[in-house]
Amino acid sequence: MEHRPLGRSGLAVSTYSLGTMTFGAEADEATSHRMTSQYVDAGGVVLETADVYAGGLSESVVGRWLAAQGSRTRDRVVLATKGRFPSRGVEPRDAGGSRRNLRRSLERSLRRLGVDHVDLYQVHAYEQVTPMEETAGFLEDAVRSGMVGYAGLSNYTGWQTATMVALAAGRFPLVSHQPQYNLLVRETEYEIVPACRAGGLGLLPWSPLAGGWLTGKYRRDARPTGATRLGEDPGRGMEAYGPRSAREQTWEVLAALGEVAEARGATMAQVALAWLHDRPGVASVVLGVRTPEQLEGNLGAVGLHLDEAETARLEEASAPTPADYPYGPAGVAQRTRALG
Ligand SMILES: NC(=O)c1ccc[n+]([C@@H]2O[C@H](COP(=O)([O-])OP(=O)(O)OC[C@H]3O[C@@H](n4cnc5c(N)ncnc54)[C@H](OP(=O)(O)O)[C@@H]3O)[C@@H](O)[C@H]2O)c1
Repeated sequence: MEHRPLGRSGLAVSTYSLGTMTFGAEADEATSHRMTSQYVDAGGVVLETADVYAGGLSESVVGRWLAAQGSRTRDRVVLATKGRFPSRGVEPRDAGGSRRNLRRSLERSLRRLGVDHVDLYQVHAYEQVTPMEETAGFLEDAVRSGMVGYAGLSNYTGWQTATMVALAAGRFPLVSHQPQYNLLVRETEYEIVPACRAGGLGLLPWSPLAGGWLTGKYRRDARPTGATRLGEDPGRGMEAYGPRSAREQTWEVLAALGEVAEARGATMAQVALAWLHDRPGVASVVLGVRTPEQLEGNLGAVGLHLDEAETARLEEASAPTPADYPYGPAGVAQRTRALG
């Protein structure tokens, strides 16, 4: 597997990370442990979790896997988690980016993971109540205490990212941003990607397969069924079946992906992952899987790089169509300087 520095830092990450949102949820503990070993055996080093995944079970499952490894494997792993949303036992009014909530969330995460520090601690989302200075102060103290190696953001918009970058400068290593980013969600490119590139943050895109859509498993003429994310809950999350299937562009993107994949002799998932892997600013793509078979298939994307024509085909089909201003042609022209 290839490696890149995470943003403007010395932390080397494999260019595919293993997301663990399914651990203790769709995937039982034995399956989760098998997938983690499979990922690490393939050369991956980043394990990505959060205090809220499966009500904390995901972190416990990861912690028990780590405990069962020899020190060599444990030392190789770059361990990342997140805090901000109400984890078990936290009143919703207390959840957020406050010092009180993040400190408690971090301490609980470390206990579940069975470690004394994490390599990367990410604020799972902005919220408007806590001043960003307070969240930045927490991150600075957490790094200084040794409980956190590097700090990251997730789901922050462009201005929120830029503000946090400015607050972090010279105080603590803010190195990454984890947004949703995939061939069905490219609005991330309007503000978030440029803010990250300007601020030296590496992108860790989540839902690289748009929650399973980019595997081609969901059809226009049939509601999802069976043991799939939308078969179990068609209304789940941002990948809900109704809104996505109603968008004509969803089917155009899937058609383009199918063409490129067929010509390559690759799966649609592998092509979607390879596209994202080579987008500007991306440090490591966060994989999500339910089964070892899915993981094996998706790891087939390792080493796959699309050529210009393939990339252009996918980008033409997936380009978002903003109004003229501020993100459409008129706005872009206004911000562009021609040097002749
Ligand atoms: N920061 C955040 O707010 C945030 C939010 C979401 C996720 N994340 C992180 O990002 C990771 C990945 O997100 P995600 O799970 O949404 O990623 P994804 O890759 O978009 O979707 C993963 C799901 O797609 C299906 N799938 C994957 N590979 C497949 C294959 N080869 N064939 C058929 N189906 C396949 C599986 O679902 P089924 O088999 O169940 O259909 C799998 O659970 C998470 O684990 C988590 O670490 C972060």
